Amino acid sequence: MIDFKQLQDRAAVAKPIVAQFDDAARAADFSLTHDGLLFDYSKTTIDRPSRDILLGLLDTASVAQKREAMFTGQPINETEGRAVLHTALRNMDAGPIIVDGEDVMSGIRETLARMEAFAASVRDGSFTGAGGSITDVINIGIGGSDLGPVMAVRALSPYHDGPRCHFVSNIDPGDVAEVLKRCDPTRTLVIVSSKTFTTIETITNAETVRDWMAASVADPAAQFAAISSDLDKTAAFGIPADRVFGFGSYVGGRYSVWGPIGLSVMLAVGPAHFRAFLAGGAAMDSHFRSAPWDQNLPALLALVGLWHSHACGYATRAVLPYDNRLGRLPAYLQQLEMESNGKGVGMDGIALPYHSGAVVWGEPGTNGQHAFYQLIHQGTRVIPCEFMIAARAHEPDLQHQQELLIANCLAQSKALMQGRDLDAARKIAATKGFTGPELDRQAAHRVFQGNRPSVTLAYEMLTPYVLGQIVALYEHRVFVEGAILGINSFDQWGVELGKELATQLQPVVDGTATAAGQDASTQALVGFLRSAGA
Ligand code: F6P
Repeated sequence: MIDFKQLQDRAAVAKPIVAQFDDAARAADFSLTHDGLLFDYSKTTIDRPSRDILLGLLDTASVAQKREAMFTGQPINETEGRAVLHTALRNMDAGPIIVDGEDVMSGIRETLARMEAFAASVRDGSFTGAGGSITDVINIGIGGSDLGPVMAVRALSPYHDGPRCHFVSNIDPGDVAEVLKRCDPTRTLVIVSSKTFTTIETITNAETVRDWMAASVADPAAQFAAISSDLDKTAAFGIPADRVFGFGSYVGGRYSVWGPIGLSVMLAVGPAHFRAFLAGGAAMDSHFRSAPWDQNLPALLALVGLWHSHACGYATRAVLPYDNRLGRLPAYLQQLEMESNGKGVGMDGIALPYHSGAVVWGEPGTNGQHAFYQLIHQGTRVIPCEFMIAARAHEPDLQHQQELLIANCLAQSKALMQGRDLDAARKIAATKGFTGPELDRQAAHRVFQGNRPSVTLAYEMLTPYVLGQIVALYEHRVFVEGAILGINSFDQWGVELGKELATQLQPVVDGTATAAGQDASTQALVGFLRSAGA
């Protein structure tokens, strides 16, 4: 296990961020450009000695060996006995990747080719519904079978020239009902996306949509496709094998957007743009695998995160894309990071002697500025921020708005760093006519502590390739953090208990079983909801 004490001691005496810039080389030395990306981590309290200690964690935790074990298909997901090979889905090399004695690449390439042929037939109108060419696609899935496609379809909207895409995830009847209102059942393709094909929300929603379609279409199964690694279950649901796209158990749900789970993305933007997305991910893979640690984007992003969470003790981290099309990226990253690194024990099953991963949350700027940034600037908790910003808009005639967006993004990281001291606040309050004790009181409200850390990821424009880079960057960041913390980033036992209890409570809620054995709070809630819903 890692001992964070040395880092905590350094964090406790670190010079303020503004003072770190006494080092004239800091902006250059604490930033990295790679393949069109600029990652700036100079607005943190990390200095060179601290960075050296952070980099040393990679050796202590054998991250290079663990990284190689992942890329070469070793069963590093030890609690599920599985390899972790989402990287194979975007692998562009000709060579094999062997899992359990078999090359997984041939199956991956074959499935990608089948997806492309299917997507092309939907997009060119040769695959039709009962009423003609497909106008709408409904992806039914939840968690990793939803968040990736939702995030990517929105992110790549300038490239969207295929059918409209809708997403149904929640068991809440309002979710499916709102989507069905907008679709013509005779011209809708339904994709049931579930790795296990057992997830109650997805199967229930799929049955609801099949019933809705059956009211207007003689053979609804003809307008269904499935994505799963359990082909027996998709067959049992009635979806013909030629419209089932499988993937191996070595791809975790939250890492699956690169394969068949990304079919809705491919239908939206077309196979060529989907391949560009894969290429961006693959390029980040080879960078992660080969760049020296001090020039390695995912490693540095992870180490900065660990500095803030485990050296400084900041419990959360805000992801703030100044790119409205990345509006669902924070939600996507919440699953990626919190389902991966929210664990209580190490690989050895022993309780962690430190915290697991940080809480991740966020919203796009500038909207967040008018909502929760107040707390980030003046609240008593420090929240490290991760800003993202493009140089160029997809709308050349609106570049002046992009420039305003950029100015806002840069202004936020600058304001967080430098703050505003009491003297400056007093001058401002004085211009408003305050004097004496009232001047002091008014000035106090206008003080910004400053010294609030942030990093910025800048890129030219949000293309499919850049999106692939960003998503793979965060995947590997999670990997590095998990490897250093000594946890299994690839299982998710923490979601099981709630699922089991929901199954047990269903008959209590629908009245076919008594609430008698439940705790008093649950009994009272059931009582209220049953009488209010009657
Ligand atoms: O809730 C846990 C989880 O297993 C996630 O890890 C996964 O992404 C999601 O449920 C959906 O699972 P499936 O794709 O098997 O329906």
